[in-house]
Amino acid sequence: MSRVFSGIQPTGNLHLGNYLGAIRNWVRMQDSHDCVFCVVDLHAITVAQDPKALRAGIREMTAALIASGLDPDRCVLFNQSAVRVHAELAWILMCTARMGWLGRMTQFKEKSGKDREGASVGLFTYPVLQAADILAYKATHVPVGEDQKQHLELARDIALKFNTDTGTELFPLPEPVIEGPATRVMSLRDGSAKMSKSDPSDAARINLTDSADAIAQKIKRAKTDPEPLPSDRAGLAGRPEAANLVGLMAALSGQSVEAVLAEWGGQGFGAFKPALADAMVAALAPITARFNALKDDHATLDAILARGAEKARAIAEPVLIEAQRAVGFRD
Ligand code: TYM
Repeated sequence: MSRVFSGIQPTGNLHLGNYLGAIRNWVRMQDSHDCVFCVVDLHAITVAQDPKALRAGIREMTAALIASGLDPDRCVLFNQSAVRVHAELAWILMCTARMGWLGRMTQFKEKSGKDREGASVGLFTYPVLQAADILAYKATHVPVGEDQKQHLELARDIALKFNTDTGTELFPLPEPVIEGPATRVMSLRDGSAKMSKSDPSDAARINLTDSADAIAQKIKRAKTDPEPLPSDRAGLAGRPEAANLVGLMAALSGQSVEAVLAEWGGQGFGAFKPALADAMVAALAPITARFNALKDDHATLDAILARGAEKARAIAEPVLIEAQRAVGFRD
């Protein structure tokens, strides 16, 4: 049996990194797998959130996912806090995970920065909640961007230790699915930083809601180097900004990186950038239009989430019962 699970935080706009790194693979996998996708509001409150903005963000992210191609009739789509199993299973798994394992998580180190003592406990235990998300559905495949790789390795370690400790084979070990030419989309302003919702500069990312003009402007101003594009992959070494833009072109046009370089090698960014902006607008404009048509229809969005939560509970509650039995809470 195979099942897909993945999640996204409802903070800020869906950006091109989320879309190309993860969401596009979610959309594709709906056709071939039993899929569960989650707007992870429990994860969002590990850092300070304005309650009104979070409430709006949950609906907006739901609308953005549907606009990107998720079909609530063909997948389970819900928000995490509506299914209590996530929090309850996370508690059990927090007693499986080891302090040392969590202490090695690079995302905690990055997000807590210099103020580790002032970070929430939730930010530290966040990867255990992420493991619970996945294991509550006995998911076998988890489509994510490159930045989630370490969290998925931890989820495997937790699943294996739980099975070993309890003498069961309750949890399958989930496989990360990190696929495509854009598994790590970088900032448009700095080829060494990933494109992120939390980057203070909006010019660093392409949002799903950006107009065609805004996209063209951001690509025009994207940081590059003065050299022409190379004609093979080796020529991208040490040129992170060029590598990022070429990867984006490949992902958006459905070509390999090699094919993009064969076409553009020797040409300058002055010619390449407008073509890249056009490819981006062509991919995003229909999504933006669907998003705008849906985002204010709260009744429809709420009904989709409620139905998704019901379907999610039907899968996850029996798994929680099995976990409770395995640790000795029930017969
Ligand atoms: P989040 O909300 O930060 O990102 C959602 C998805 O987008 C991918 N992504 C990127 N991919 C390529 N390039 C980028 N610049 C980029 N930025 C983000 C992420 O890898 C992710 O797949 N902890 C997770 C959410 C989560 C989850 C889960 C994921 C909670 N529970 C269980 C999988 C399974 C997160 O914060 O993703």
